[in-house]
Amino acid sequence: MLLVAFLLWSSNFEACNARRGRHWRQRRGPSGSLAKKKGKNHGKGNYHHSGGSKPKSPPHKAPSLPPPKPKEDLPAPSPPPKGSNGGHSVTFNVLDFGAKGDGSSDDTQAFQAAWAAACKVEASKVIVPSASIFLVGPISFSGPYCQPNIVFQLDGTIIAPTNSKAWGGGLFQWLEFTKLRGISILGKGVIDGRGSVWWQDAPFDDPVDDESKLIIPLNSTLEKHPPMPIRSQLGMRTMPSIKPTALRFYGSVNVTVTGITIQSSPQFHLKFDSCMGVLVHDISISSPGNSPNTDGIHLQNSKDVLIYSSTLACGDDCISIQTGCSNVYIHNINCGPGHGISIGSLGKDGTKACVSNITIRDVIMHNTMNGVRIKTWQGGSGSVQGVLFSNIQVSEVQLPIVIDQYYCDKRTCKNQSSAVALSGINYERIRGTYTVKPVHFACSDSLPCVDVTLTAIELKPLQEQYHLYNPFCWQTFGELRTPTVPPIDCVQIGKPPNNRVQSDYDLC
Ligand SMILES: *[C@@H]1O[C@H](CO)[C@@H](O)[C@H](O)[C@H]1NC(C)=O
Ligand SMILES: *[C@@H]1O[C@H](CO)[C@@H](O)[C@H](O)[C@H]1NC(C)=O
Ligand SMILES: *[C@@H]1O[C@H](CO)[C@@H](O)[C@H](O)[C@H]1NC(C)=O
Ligand SMILES: *[C@@H]1O[C@H](CO)[C@@H](O)[C@H](O)[C@H]1NC(C)=O
Repeated sequence: MLLVAFLLWSSNFEACNARRGRHWRQRRGPSGSLAKKKGKNHGKGNYHHSGGSKPKSPPHKAPSLPPPKPKEDLPAPSPPPKGSNGGHSVTFNVLDFGAKGDGSSDDTQAFQAAWAAACKVEASKVIVPSASIFLVGPISFSGPYCQPNIVFQLDGTIIAPTNSKAWGGGLFQWLEFTKLRGISILGKGVIDGRGSVWWQDAPFDDPVDDESKLIIPLNSTLEKHPPMPIRSQLGMRTMPSIKPTALRFYGSVNVTVTGITIQSSPQFHLKFDSCMGVLVHDISISSPGNSPNTDGIHLQNSKDVLIYSSTLACGDDCISIQTGCSNVYIHNINCGPGHGISIGSLGKDGTKACVSNITIRDVIMHNTMNGVRIKTWQGGSGSVQGVLFSNIQVSEVQLPIVIDQYYCDKRTCKNQSSAVALSGINYERIRGTYTVKPVHFACSDSLPCVDVTLTAIELKPLQEQYHLYNPFCWQTFGELRTPTVPPIDCVQIGKPPNNRVQSDYDLC
């Protein structure tokens, strides 16, 4: 069923082609028909088999040895089983590989062994049973030589170590899946990064969200930012300075994550890097609003991405879309607390960034810093083309609509003339309440934003604890398709007079 969904909308894997046309807007829509599908079989109390499959004794009992090959009671000469359609997928329960699931024994080896066995069998299942808590250290479920379409059935809880020794000098991720063809994480389970030990150690050079500069409290004695967790008393760091992402997929095709909860990550919760065909739905991400840099879902270099029906609460962007992403469709998201949904930051340190064909719709945001935002650094190149933000319901959001082409999370940044070019940025039905400024469009002097359209914008002020501002626009060209509340007169209608063309080098 999910694969069918992919067939409907995937197919264009070209990197960063300039998509000048507007026709992409008409061609979307298949995902709306995707029915909610929750995992249906979770073997309660039966640790040894996935719910639906026939009883079959897992043949391996020796955790310390390389696990033997699973018994093949599938007809040998016939083609390999296709997916789990037959209900015959071979299962590998981590408990059979020596995992204790008691929340304190180190189960890393057992997970490694279960994976090594599952890797050899197409459409096999790794079972992480419910009612157990598995302490698992940093681990890579690595796949260049694995069979396709492995399912990671996660119904139990996986927790991260909180002692610094487990992390060596610092790692970029905790649970990593790499170079797989068809990998699914399904179930009702929980991935708990137990990040509070890392948040307390937030180093001084952790990036601070640039937009906080725009948020001026009325009462200057109030703290500028939500109170950060208190640094360790002696200024001694107990955890490494590099903080891991909880769950990361790298270089994989056809990745699905559904049903699970990811909470309290030291840093980002869920990251897709260089993946093609990503499906995420009915997941939950949860961390405190003041936990530093705990983005919900981070997309980078990934194409054909569909994310829907998920609840994201964290201390940074609920979803962040980075360079190299195209054909991304996100809908039915609850976001908050957090910093909203962002494209960027792009073009840091003079890099080229390419992002195109992004749709974000049917989102509810409550008590977030930003609503929908595009942020680029000065000095970058490349482009963001074809973005639709539609039906975004905001309540008590500080800055609902933001384009910031002067992004700078350090103290000062040099003025530079090159920029990531923004065009075809469409906002429709953005409604609700704001507490600082309804619209902030700060576009590049040298490459103004073009084809910015606003339709049915209705944003009402709520004076809480911040100075309120009128809409702001700088070098922003486009169209107001309906009257807006408040009036956004600062958008310049039409095209910029001397619309500088990007050099070929800058084109995506
Ligand atoms: C990914 O899924 C699609 C749709 O099911 C399929 O056509 C394609 O072959 C898959 N790609 C890989 C590399 O498995
Ligand atoms: C300003 O904030 C401080 C500390 O929160 C509080 O004690 C004071 O009463 C506030 N003043 C006003 C005018 O709200
Ligand atoms: C844009 O992305 C959607 C998926 O979100 C896809 O269906 C559509 O074909 C893409 N449009 C273009 C022009 O690639
Ligand atoms: C950058 O340009 C802005 C606007 O022209 C100006 O106000 C600011 O002082 C400049 N900053 C630097 C560091 O040159």
